[in-house]
Amino acid sequence: MGTVLIGVQWGDEGKGKMTDFLADQVDVVVRYQGGANAGHTVVIDGHEYRLNLLPSGILTGKLSIIGNGVVLDPEVLLEELRGLADQGHDPTRLRVSDGAHLIMPQHKILDAAEEEFRGENRLGTTGRGIGPAYRDKVARAGIRVADMMNPRSFARKVRDGVERANILLQRVYGREPLDPDETIDTYSHYAEELLPYVCNGPAMINDLLDDGQRVLFEGAQGTMLDVDHGSYPFVTSSNPISGGACVGAGVAPSRINRVIGVAKAYMTRVGDGPFPTELTGELGGDLRVRGNEYGTATGRPRRCGWLDAVILRHSARLNGLSGMCLTKLDVLSGLDQIKIAVAYRYGNRRLENFPRDSTVMDEVDVEYTSVSGWSEDISEIRSLNELPDAVGQYVQAVVDLTGVPVHYLSLGPSREQTIQCDFAPG
Ligand code: GDP
Ligand code: IMO
Ligand code: MG
Repeated sequence: MGTVLIGVQWGDEGKGKMTDFLADQVDVVVRYQGGANAGHTVVIDGHEYRLNLLPSGILTGKLSIIGNGVVLDPEVLLEELRGLADQGHDPTRLRVSDGAHLIMPQHKILDAAEEEFRGENRLGTTGRGIGPAYRDKVARAGIRVADMMNPRSFARKVRDGVERANILLQRVYGREPLDPDETIDTYSHYAEELLPYVCNGPAMINDLLDDGQRVLFEGAQGTMLDVDHGSYPFVTSSNPISGGACVGAGVAPSRINRVIGVAKAYMTRVGDGPFPTELTGELGGDLRVRGNEYGTATGRPRRCGWLDAVILRHSARLNGLSGMCLTKLDVLSGLDQIKIAVAYRYGNRRLENFPRDSTVMDEVDVEYTSVSGWSEDISEIRSLNELPDAVGQYVQAVVDLTGVPVHYLSLGPSREQTIQCDFAPG
């Protein structure tokens, strides 16, 4: 049984929390794309864990696999593993696919140099080397985990990579060159430490599925950050959408039985790029404070805005959502009216679909519908019938505007603050 759990907005929807909530229904958790640009927060027994690279299942002792589609920064991975071991978690439940590409020091330096070069047109990347690492992968110049297993050819590949990057760093960006020997030395040590975790990802994951194990594919980022289907060029360099799980884990589409979309009850975005429903005034600031909207990976303030049904419909279609989880509903308490975008207007055209052109996206006016808010604190409510009617009406409005059922409501960061439900399109 394969379940994909993905973000349907611009990331930070609460995927880490929901992966943890679903722990009882799952035997294995797989990350299939992205890298240490992700920041997944899980709160267990009042303790907050922030994971950049490890699948969230590692916290509940589930077998956790980093798939071939991930770009892996060994320094971050080993540090996260040490941190968890110090807190009594079992790091031996991790496996790393030998097809995953490595983030090298030059990728991080190039990420920063390229952002600086873009100036006002910067993308607002996390600076974790993601774009340059995926670029090397597609250019067939990347280095994979499998390459670490052969020390001599590995050293040559590392040297080639550093020397090639040095040309760019020096001649284009006027930066200091990197020392290839130092990188070979550092990465050779990483190779020794990573060795016990390395596996053949697709073989292992498919065998687990054949054995009847329940596998959760934990997406990072979100649909609007997808390099093919998001708000290009203000996107990440991988495919977070549900189909990305097939490529990034090595499983066939027929292995996916369920796709859960995680949607925040409002929208946030960290990094640059268009955001039609953004609230730039006091209300946006209030949502940021109440929702503690600061990036997990970088600490940057997240931009906040109203929920956008144009984007949710786009996500529903691309991901084939079986159902959604609506998170952070508690943050909306105290608002008189809550707005939801239903369509965009561009000149005299009404757009019900998300436009490809980011300059159009930047300039659209938004058509909203409005529903009544609620004043009560709902974060301690544990059953559906105790929730104020207005909460149910808001959820039903989201379901009707998107055509996607909502199966979980999240009212706070911890696992207990979750209500299972069955809101179906009316
Ligand atoms: P992810 O990247 O999708 O895993 O999301 P992040 O962890 O980056 O951001 C979500 C933040 O909201 C984290 O700090 C979570 O602890 C928190 N969170 C998740 N669900 C809820 C919720 O329902 N209510 C509140 N108040 N916080 C939540
Ligand atoms: P999780 O998994 C929110 C954003 C960056 C930037 C763009 C490109 O926690 O939801 P990159 O470093 O990937 O090249 O940056 O993507 N971004 C995220 N935004 N949540 C994330 O991950 C993100 N990962 C990348 O802010 O706009
Ligand atoms: Mg996050």
